[in-house]
Amino acid sequence: MTQPENDVLKAAQDHLWLHFTRHSAYQQSEIPTIVRGEGSYVYDIHGKRYLDGLAGLFVVQVGHGRQELAEAAAKQAQELAFFPLWSYAHPKAAELAQRLAAHTPGELNRVFFTTGGGEAVETAWKLAKQYYKLVGKPLKHKVISRQIAYHGTPQGALSITGIPAFKQMFEPLVPGSVRVPNTNHYRADEISGVKGMTPEEYGRWAADRVARAIEMEGPDTVAAVFAEPVQNAGGCFPPPPGYFQRLREICDEYDVLLVSDEVICAFGRLGTMFGGQKFDYVPDIITCAKGMTSGYSPIGAMIAHERLFEPFKGDDTMFAHGYTFGGHPVSAAVALANLDIFEREDLLGHVTKNEPLFKQTLDALRDLPIVGDVRGSGYFWGIELVKDKSTKETFNAEESERLLRGFLSKALFDAGLYCRADDRGDPVIQLSPPLVAGPEEFDEIGSILRNVLTEAWARL
Ligand SMILES: Cc1ncc(COP(=O)(O)O)c(C=O)c1O
Repeated sequence: MTQPENDVLKAAQDHLWLHFTRHSAYQQSEIPTIVRGEGSYVYDIHGKRYLDGLAGLFVVQVGHGRQELAEAAAKQAQELAFFPLWSYAHPKAAELAQRLAAHTPGELNRVFFTTGGGEAVETAWKLAKQYYKLVGKPLKHKVISRQIAYHGTPQGALSITGIPAFKQMFEPLVPGSVRVPNTNHYRADEISGVKGMTPEEYGRWAADRVARAIEMEGPDTVAAVFAEPVQNAGGCFPPPPGYFQRLREICDEYDVLLVSDEVICAFGRLGTMFGGQKFDYVPDIITCAKGMTSGYSPIGAMIAHERLFEPFKGDDTMFAHGYTFGGHPVSAAVALANLDIFEREDLLGHVTKNEPLFKQTLDALRDLPIVGDVRGSGYFWGIELVKDKSTKETFNAEESERLLRGFLSKALFDAGLYCRADDRGDPVIQLSPPLVAGPEEFDEIGSILRNVLTEAWARL
């Protein structure tokens, strides 16, 4: 190892505070350090290549190493590096807002920029509260979201998040957030207590739990329902047929805003620009971030239906909310260049065309005794691991710890596949490659997974 490499590794050990990371895991070993990327691959500090099976963190849609995005950033930084959107506009934010509005379904035409996804979620909740105050329904402030769903770390977004282990140490969080069942059809029997429901029946049942929660809380107190098109945490739960249509009906009936949290699902992850388009529903608000710039610069947004903006047109009314770096000119310029690539290379068409092959590659792993379920949509898939396929029995805490943390994550990485072994719900492996990936990358993902999962089973 060269001295500069040593210096970087030591600086990381001595000074970096990693996110959602047990630092104890790196007491005896170096922190994996990624230095560059190209297409669907990244390279570590020692020059070893990895297939980026997670697009960074569901982010790098157009792949790594795109010079034109770097150039768009440099050009904008030279022209106007910074100006805020506090009472002023700049051309790139205006153009990006217009372009996003053209892509959204329905009349979701009003774009409030943030710097990331959690802020977009936080913004959506605050907007819902203030909107209802302005239209004379001041008690409406509560939100409903789904079990195990992740919606971010600011205290409002964390309150909406449905993962108790991430919340407990920060309680008390923002009050008024209520959980309902998610759309994990694989575990529908346990969740609902009803045996053998079809996906449609389960979807109806799960959506109706939202109506029940609204009734229980009091419809005049509930402002919004937050749901991802495909729920990430827990391992890719697509909506059963009819689920979002029923949710839409319920939200309309009770005058509750439907917020589609598309921080992961927007920008082609499912083969459509926005997630609702894949499943044929129009929300009142979309929250998005990650793929908007493919990660070449940070940005997020809350995109609201024009009707929600109406009360803010009053003489002395404003949404008292903002972020210094929200809609940053460099990020906005990069987002526009990123959308150019989407159009020029027909990335949505590419994902839609290749989705069946990706599914087929992962479905082929179902013959392994440890693979309980394979589910997802577009380029966004989860593989649920089980101890017993026939009973769907999952691992106990000790096994899960030993398997996921102790073995799988590292073994997959050592084998050249960066992806995520996640135990926020039942243990799953999550896959979400760059949208430029294709048959060759799928084959590589399939063969690494087969080897490592076979070994994991042998170790159990
Ligand atoms: C659905 C969803 N919402 C919100 C967030 C939070 O986004 P960020 O990490 O950019 O704050 C995430 C992050 O993964 C997410 O997946």
